[in-house]
Amino acid sequence: MRQKLVVANWKMHGSSAFIRGFFAEFAPAGNVVICPPYPYLATVAAACAEKGLEAGAQNLNAEPQGAFTGEVSAAMLGDLGVRYVIVGHSERRSLYGESNTVVAEKYHAARAAGLVPILCVGETLEQRESGNTLQVIAEQLAAVSGEAESPWDNAVIAYEPVWAIGTGKTATPEQAQEVHAFIRQALGAEGQSIQVLYGGSVKGDNAAELFAQADIDGALVGGASLKPEEFAKICSAA
Ligand code: G3P
Repeated sequence: MRQKLVVANWKMHGSSAFIRGFFAEFAPAGNVVICPPYPYLATVAAACAEKGLEAGAQNLNAEPQGAFTGEVSAAMLGDLGVRYVIVGHSERRSLYGESNTVVAEKYHAARAAGLVPILCVGETLEQRESGNTLQVIAEQLAAVSGEAESPWDNAVIAYEPVWAIGTGKTATPEQAQEVHAFIRQALGAEGQSIQVLYGGSVKGDNAAELFAQADIDGALVGGASLKPEEFAKICSAA
């Protein structure tokens, strides 16, 4: 039986004062991961440990170490007590040119270091309107699975339709369920046990209907995760 999981992606938001206020107010329920910007990872990892939550990162470099100014390795994240790491977020793909190949390298580097990658997949509005959603998702998954033996062990997938991120236009539960079921089927035997999260304008008032879908195992939450009370409502619905 897959457990529900709710992940907060704070993106480039937050401050020491915000973090103090968030953890003073947030009353967690269930399996929750908090992914702050890099500078706050150690602080958030310590706060998460106190509250029985997990800490996550929003990105990593696939190299183990080296002359990569401004970058962070999987081992460094693990060293801070981080357990999860988001890879292939659509903002990384569109704003920083991360290809399916680069995303796959990051995914496997995370697993090799004992972290749990949260692989983001999703289509743009143009791709959906052209009827190419499932093909896009299949290509993003294939780039990661490649020739690997058991590519989906100790990993999480997040379906994030690009057109729903930060727009307030949430996918309908039916739209999301269709893609989640496709993802699960595409992964073969490992598809039944892996958690597949939905991301894209998840709010306190739409989470329960999404989580009621057979193949939706939780959420990757952006904006609403910055509001402790609303984020707690999403977590309680899981
Ligand atoms: O990674 C989660 C994020 O992309 C979703 O953002 O603000 O639509 O919940 P938001």
